[in-house]
Amino acid sequence: MEFPFAAKVNSEEETARLAGEFSELLQGGEIVALNGDLGAGKTSFIKHLLRNFEIDNVSSPTFAIVNEYQGSLKVNHFDFYRINKVEELYDIGFEEYLTREDTLTFIEWADLLPEVLPSKRIEISFVVNDDFSREISFKNIS
Ligand SMILES: Nc1ncnc2c1ncn2[C@@H]1O[C@H](COP(=O)(O)OP(=O)(O)O)[C@@H](O)[C@H]1O
Ligand SMILES: [Mg+2]
Repeated sequence: MEFPFAAKVNSEEETARLAGEFSELLQGGEIVALNGDLGAGKTSFIKHLLRNFEIDNVSSPTFAIVNEYQGSLKVNHFDFYRINKVEELYDIGFEEYLTREDTLTFIEWADLLPEVLPSKRIEISFVVNDDFSREISFKNIS
């Protein structure tokens, strides 16, 4: 996979395969921002991806704001959906999370708080089509 990259998936199985392919590019330390409507498949993509790093307890961090996982890699999993003010993010130590070396970070609904995103990141966007197929596109931001 080389960025920018886009694919159309017709089933969750295909999403899982794409997530597996993308996971091969990750070594830890990356920031991955995921955007797309509710139910578009952001959490599901992360869930499938993290199986490759021996993590199988992925859940949506919508209420907790952040979940942390440890498999063959350490992972921070944020969800900005319920955050009303940027201070809530700083209160839980957002900046410290991002300095953790070798930790892979996912941020669902990243585009709700664009001002806090590191300038170097990978962005993935999810769009659901009328026929329920999905467009998943990847790009590198630096
Ligand atoms: N091709 C697909 N890729 C990902 N999820 C799919 C797909 N088709 C159906 N789904 C379903 O859509 C839902 C996506 O939910 P979720 O991953 O929680 O979305 P989000 O985190 O973007 O709100 C899941 O219930 C999943 O099973
Ligand atoms: Mg989600």
